[in-house]
Amino acid sequence: MPLASLKDLYFDELADLYDAEMQIIRTLPRLAEAARARELREALKKHGDQSRLHLERLDLIFTHWGERPRSRPCVGLAGIVQEADNRLNQEATDDVRDAAIIGSARRMEHYEIAAYSCARGYARQLNRLDEARLLQETLSEEGRTDHCLSDLAEAQIKADAQSEADLYAPPLVAASSEPEIVSRGTATACAVTGDLEVSAVKLSPVIPR
Ligand SMILES: [Fe+2]
Repeated sequence: MPLASLKDLYFDELADLYDAEMQIIRTLPRLAEAARARELREALKKHGDQSRLHLERLDLIFTHWGERPRSRPCVGLAGIVQEADNRLNQEATDDVRDAAIIGSARRMEHYEIAAYSCARGYARQLNRLDEARLLQETLSEEGRTDHCLSDLAEAQIKADAQSEADLYAPPLVAASSEPEIVSRGTATACAVTGDLEVSAVKLSPVIPR
């Protein structure tokens, strides 16, 4: 499709995001299944549910223009998914695999954040302010998910560092003969918050341009 106007570019971005969301909906359950940490599994599953809402918001925007939803292969996200699968297929300890999964999921979030930021900007320039607000809702949720994954990664790194310190620390003279139980830190619970509603933004009646 030629990009003859900003509207064309806007639609192209939305179509790219439509396919990106579909890929993410297919991929996140696979990553969640491979993850060991409960908090990570839950965060990935929750974001999978949120991604369905993101798709519905894109549907709403196309409908608002009086158009059918469009999708075009999102090559960028396909590459990130391919890298994620490559890493899942490599032999790794549970902790390292979780760290790799977090890295892959954050790459997906950053792709989406960049693309939704562009789409929101185009919507504003086209004076489609309701659509811009709708895209902002999704953008905020993507941002919260990225922060959540970042928190999980930091908690895991701290736990790993503690484990290594425990492993290489010189043995302490035990005060009693009771065996010392070294508790391994767990990732902080990091809920992906927000109501699972398509949107608080109400789109005005369809006015095709
Ligand atoms: Fe999304």
